[in-house]
Amino acid sequence: MRQKIVAGNWKMNTTIEEGMALAQSLLERSSEIPQRVTMVVAPPFTHLYAVNQQIRESKIKLGAQNCATHENGAYTGEVSAQMISSVGCQYVIIGHSERREYYGEEATILNKKIKQALSSGLIPIFCVGERLEQRESDHHFDVVETQLKEVVTILNPSDFSKVVIAYEPVWAIGTGKTATSEQAQEMHAFIRKVLAQHFGTLSAQTPILYGGSCKPSNATELFAQPDIDGGLIGGASLQAEDFLAIAKSFPLT
Ligand code: 13P
Repeated sequence: MRQKIVAGNWKMNTTIEEGMALAQSLLERSSEIPQRVTMVVAPPFTHLYAVNQQIRESKIKLGAQNCATHENGAYTGEVSAQMISSVGCQYVIIGHSERREYYGEEATILNKKIKQALSSGLIPIFCVGERLEQRESDHHFDVVETQLKEVVTILNPSDFSKVVIAYEPVWAIGTGKTATSEQAQEMHAFIRKVLAQHFGTLSAQTPILYGGSCKPSNATELFAQPDIDGGLIGGASLQAEDFLAIAKSFPLT
């Protein structure tokens, strides 16, 4: 059975005090996280060391929201995959639509980042997703297929087997507008089909997360879909109560 994951992308939110309080609330209630669900929190870089100190003995895992394209050196302001790993992260989000849109992260950059992540032993959570006009013009499958083919399907099978995919339709991020469970399932099944064309049965093990206004009120229906293996959660991951409720939204079997 595929791994079930809920990952909280805190984005550029919380002071260190607020972030540590949020991690503490999750920690205190971590026994509520179902056994077979992996919970990941991805705070800002500045919080990673402190949050790791809090959660390292628990079952909550740590992730970063981005990593550098290079291993080390004169890249002022950048944070390498190795640094991220050295503060206790196991995951790193790569190719989030906000990075693609506001920081010009295209395939060349994302290829470098995913390689850095993998060579530092991090699990990449690689994001794909179409913009509203691309869905409305019926190009959403092409867009997502291209995003996968530019980066993921050119990995070797061993590297690919470590990758988590997140489908985040841009029009659903932070808008309160969620993809319907049918729209999400349709795209997740398509993603798995594209992966299967390259990696065969390995793709049956790839967790594919949904992201975009996922909250306690819609997580149950989304997570009930056969190809939705969890969520990449923005806003709702900033409230411990909501994030835990989402982690408890998987079907029982
Ligand atoms: P929201 O859950 O706030 O829509 O954000 C989704 C997201 O971008 C997670 O990476």
